[in-house]
Amino acid sequence: MPGEILLKVLCSIYLSNQSALTQFLVYLTKLNAIYQMDCIKGMNEGLEQSSIDIIVTSPPYNIGINYNSHQDNMAFDDYLKWMNDFGKACKRVLKDDGSLFFNIGDKASDELKAFEVAKQIAHYLHLQNTIHWIKSIAVPEENINVGHYKPVNSKTYLNNLHEYIFHFTKNKDVEIDKLAIGVPYADKGNITRWKAAKSNGDRRDRGNVWFIPYDTVQEAKDHPAKFPHKLPEMCIKLHGYSPKTVVLDPFLGSGTTCVVAKQLGCKFIGFEIDEKYIKLAKTKLIQITDYV
Ligand SMILES: C[S@@+](CC[C@H](N)C(=O)[O-])C[C@H]1O[C@@H](n2cnc3c(N)ncnc32)[C@H](O)[C@@H]1O
Repeated sequence: MPGEILLKVLCSIYLSNQSALTQFLVYLTKLNAIYQMDCIKGMNEGLEQSSIDIIVTSPPYNIGINYNSHQDNMAFDDYLKWMNDFGKACKRVLKDDGSLFFNIGDKASDELKAFEVAKQIAHYLHLQNTIHWIKSIAVPEENINVGHYKPVNSKTYLNNLHEYIFHFTKNKDVEIDKLAIGVPYADKGNITRWKAAKSNGDRRDRGNVWFIPYDTVQEAKDHPAKFPHKLPEMCIKLHGYSPKTVVLDPFLGSGTTCVVAKQLGCKFIGFEIDEKYIKLAKTKLIQITDYV
């Protein structure tokens, strides 16, 4: 907002209501910023109620990942309690028509854990969609063999090549923009055959199975558990967005969600406890945007 217009807006708010001016200033300072702090404290004490359009995040999975400061091996009951508090905090800050996209994976040896965590969030929000994030797939019959992964050394378990993205909303009634991430029809005959298809052209709902391979990394791994840029991009597009949209990532890590939000022209907020990851995220944001 150019300085002169901003000054006029501030003056008119001041003249009509002084406490509204304070609130407006708090709002302005919080957007397009990332904070080194505990996310539940950040959400509960730093963010207004019903102020966030989209949360895209991936918490520590509690599977022993070697983070810089977070200990990823809590007692499982403590971890569930933490995720319960997290769900409560998300409900408070989310707008009534907001979306929480909650990415979580688990170990091949304990595939039920992700659902137990999702159930904690479900104490506060409704599960509107369950998306399966597929990282690698081989269909030799169709000449398909795509994506890469680190093979697991096990005689009993298959390589775990998927994670979940649980889409939570307040009332299970948030309209989503399915065609924004739509795909072309495999059988073009269906475009003329079905009424809905005719109006949408060669674009259909891609469904809840998303193939997103990891970004190819040339440099040394700067964070042990990044998700690909395409993941938050698809979530934000599916929810629908505009320059007014506020995107939050409470477990920011290397900053992927905020980088993507900024690239799409949305507002962003991020929380992360670790100083090294905050610096990493800031570097990325500076490189691709005018973030200061
Ligand atoms: C799975 S990683 C997120 C990775 C991120 N999606 C990315 O693409 O880089 C989870 C992150 O949560 C951070 N974290 C752990 N406890 C936290 C807390 N209480 N508040 C905020 N961040 C926390 C960890 O340091 C870690 O970077």
